[in-house]
Amino acid sequence: MTSSPPTGGGVIIDLGTGDGSFVYQSALRHPDRFYIGIDAQSSALEKISEKIHRKPAKGGAPNVLFIQAAVEDLPPELDGVADEVHAHFPWGSLLRALALGDEVALRNLRRVCAPGAWLEVVIALDPERDRAEIERLGLSPLSLEFLETTLIPRYRAAGFDIVEYGSLPPSEWPQLQTSWARRLRGATSRPLNFLIARAVGDV
Ligand SMILES: C[S@@+](CC[C@H](N)C(=O)[O-])C[C@H]1O[C@@H](n2cnc3c(N)ncnc32)[C@H](O)[C@@H]1O
Repeated sequence: MTSSPPTGGGVIIDLGTGDGSFVYQSALRHPDRFYIGIDAQSSALEKISEKIHRKPAKGGAPNVLFIQAAVEDLPPELDGVADEVHAHFPWGSLLRALALGDEVALRNLRRVCAPGAWLEVVIALDPERDRAEIERLGLSPLSLEFLETTLIPRYRAAGFDIVEYGSLPPSEWPQLQTSWARRLRGATSRPLNFLIARAVGDV
């Protein structure tokens, strides 16, 4: 799994961006790419969204845009712009949408993708610690059977072909540059489930 599939530039959307750390760090490393961080809540973004407007020598990142929006209601101005979409450690309604393959949310995601765009979804749930949230959201365990019989067909129906999926034990987590990756890494009982898909067909 990679957290930056090889598109060779373009526009990258980070959905459920949280404090924007992945967007900001990636934008500094890849000034030729344009990063859009989207989150339903804007409070965690205050620090980084102030930073990006500084001069580049002082940590500014002119190739970053943050938008407050929910996956259920993505602005039409984003239609077809993304070459990559990432969703790292989603929670709440975003987690429900991605882990259950909600039709409206997946179609919204597909809508913002350019043809052939990559989608990466990374979910790390602890069946014990997160039990209350799993029950509240009505989530199914991300078993191979659930993926193959339910989730993959739902993604495909929305215009995403899953090209890779799997589960990694905590010892094999990749170096994802997000605040929640840093927070959760090392938790012994939290496997990391990932899906990599490509946008196919017409919207
Ligand atoms: C656990 S945080 C992960 C943040 C970041 N991706 C990271 O890895 O550090 C999950 C984020 O999903 C956002 N979120 C939850 N529901 C959402 C929705 N329906 N649409 C967009 N963002 C949502 C939350 O506001 C929160 O910032």
